[in-house]
Amino acid sequence: MTLSIGCIGCGNMGGAILGGLAQSGKDIKLYGHTRTMSRLDALEAKGVVKVASAEDMPSRCRYLVLAVKPYQAKDVLAQIRDKLSAGNVLVSICAGLGIATLKEASGGRCPVVRCMPNTPAVVGEGVFAFSFEDPSLAPEQRGEILSAFATLGHCVEVPEARFTAFTSLIGAGPAYLFDLMEGMVQAGVALGFQHRDCRAMVAQLFAGCGRMALQRPDVHLMQLRDDVCSPAGTTIAGVNRMDADGLAGKLAQAVFAANDRGREMEG
Ligand SMILES: NC(=O)c1ccc[n+]([C@@H]2O[C@H](COP(=O)([O-])OP(=O)(O)OC[C@H]3O[C@@H](n4cnc5c(N)ncnc54)[C@H](OP(=O)(O)O)[C@@H]3O)[C@@H](O)[C@H]2O)c1
Repeated sequence: MTLSIGCIGCGNMGGAILGGLAQSGKDIKLYGHTRTMSRLDALEAKGVVKVASAEDMPSRCRYLVLAVKPYQAKDVLAQIRDKLSAGNVLVSICAGLGIATLKEASGGRCPVVRCMPNTPAVVGEGVFAFSFEDPSLAPEQRGEILSAFATLGHCVEVPEARFTAFTSLIGAGPAYLFDLMEGMVQAGVALGFQHRDCRAMVAQLFAGCGRMALQRPDVHLMQLRDDVCSPAGTTIAGVNRMDADGLAGKLAQAVFAANDRGREMEG
């Protein structure tokens, strides 16, 4: 049977998920419902079927991705709960909403999966955490979800108890890295490069280093750093200054601050 996946809420993330799946080449029927339906025009051209009413989504799609803002989620679930059945699976990407809350809001009518993407999903390079702890979820459904989302980025299974930690590190991660990139670009401009050229070089620097770290998982990151440092050279001078300022420790502190805030918000 052809897989069917629909998104309720097709903004930044819902739109990126539908767009990525539409381009995946997989045999998946895709559906979208969102408050401002004109947002779906570009996705319709890629084969996504527009569904005018949220209540019609559960009968059209087996997998329902809930991609509205967290504060909007309960209203949407109240609207569709009577239409949900055991044949549906609710995949929520709403930050901070746990499986128990989602189960309650959806009347316990179908299995619930919690998912947390990060923004590079919009270019097919996201990291998606999934929690498959709802016992009513079938192993086959877990497999179908992983197989579909693998086309959008790297998928990892994370226990729900570590979702806030994942969010603080990887969900928030793009903010930390863009900040580091901005610092590098500012330095480059101060050294005489045009902003546009410098931004392109710095973006490629981050992409290239990410690929190197991925392709050499057995080489310690400090070894990769050391490989750039010639004795008495320029890089070691910069690295020593970075260490004296405690940059790595400061980054860790930023992740811990995000984690503390996430824990407070869990209530
Ligand atoms: N952005 C991130 O970095 C990120 C990362 C991980 C998880 N998330 C999660 O992803 C979810 C979506 O975030 P986002 O950044 O994609 O937000 P967004 O761009 O604001 O998208 C939300 C979409 O939901 C639509 N919507 C609102 N109420 C609705 C309703 N009652 N029925 C149908 N559609 C409705 C909105 O419609 P309008 O266009 O009319 O406003 C909007 O298009 C959030 O829960 C967030 O926690 C986001």
